[in-house]
Amino acid sequence: MALNPTGEQASSATNATPYGTLPPASPPSTRKPISLPRIQEMHTRGEKITMLTAYDATFAAVADAAGVECILVGDSLGMVCQGRHSTVGVTLDDMAYHTESVARGLRRAQGTAWLIGDLPFGSYQESKEQAIRSASVIMQAGAHMVKLEGGGWTTEVVQFLVERGIPVCAHLGLTPQTVHALGGYRVQGRGDAAADVMKKQAHELQDAGASLLVLEMVPAPLSAELTRELPNCATIGIGAGKGTAGQVLVLHDMLGVNLGKNPKFVRNFMLEASSIRGAMEAYVAAVKNGSFPDDAVHAW
Ligand code: KIV
Repeated sequence: MALNPTGEQASSATNATPYGTLPPASPPSTRKPISLPRIQEMHTRGEKITMLTAYDATFAAVADAAGVECILVGDSLGMVCQGRHSTVGVTLDDMAYHTESVARGLRRAQGTAWLIGDLPFGSYQESKEQAIRSASVIMQAGAHMVKLEGGGWTTEVVQFLVERGIPVCAHLGLTPQTVHALGGYRVQGRGDAAADVMKKQAHELQDAGASLLVLEMVPAPLSAELTRELPNCATIGIGAGKGTAGQVLVLHDMLGVNLGKNPKFVRNFMLEASSIRGAMEAYVAAVKNGSFPDDAVHAW
């Protein structure tokens, strides 16, 4: 039996296609669309921001119906959808395809989530001009914002994109596209010297106009300090403790269906829910009330 994004039974009469029954659109949402000013306002007020990855129309619509505010079409799709060991092999065409699918799902469900698309490895490292060409592909696929990894050299790329009207989410800490240079999936920013570099890069990214900053596998005290120091750039943590402005998890990890071992910072929300939408709602509630992440369990 088909379920629509609100978890109700679908009426197969209305959505039968030659290819099968599609989930119908949910009733018009009563939530206001998430926008950059709303995200900034949540950061200022101290309301936690929720983000999950999604790679297809249906899961995006369910996440939106569950109240997830930001949906990231992450290049983690290289692992969870394509079965790769890293994100390095993901192409701009792959990202455009999945971003378009997610955007279509959100439109169809009259969703309100803020949609972020990753710029994949090799699509922005060459020049600012290459970055804007790639970002345009992702924006035209339906994203509201692009995400790119790294600090230092990325500052001028971020500024170039922001000045041309493309909102940017930066990403520091463990940056999976450079996993080979980093020597593996390990915590970043440990020790005073590494922490100082990260702080400098984070400030530069805020000054360049980045509106969001993903902090991945960063010690909890450092990410909490960065969050306090960056009033205009909301931090979104993954394995970075509870002191960030918001949290993100890879969808398959939080549903307990990934191909490998779950990293320490993941909580399997399916263990406390009877449906996928229920698991997403539990995630949203836990982030909002501060019970996820638990620094004693999920952080460094
Ligand atoms: O690609 C991705 O899913 C990400 C998140 C882990 C933040 O970058």
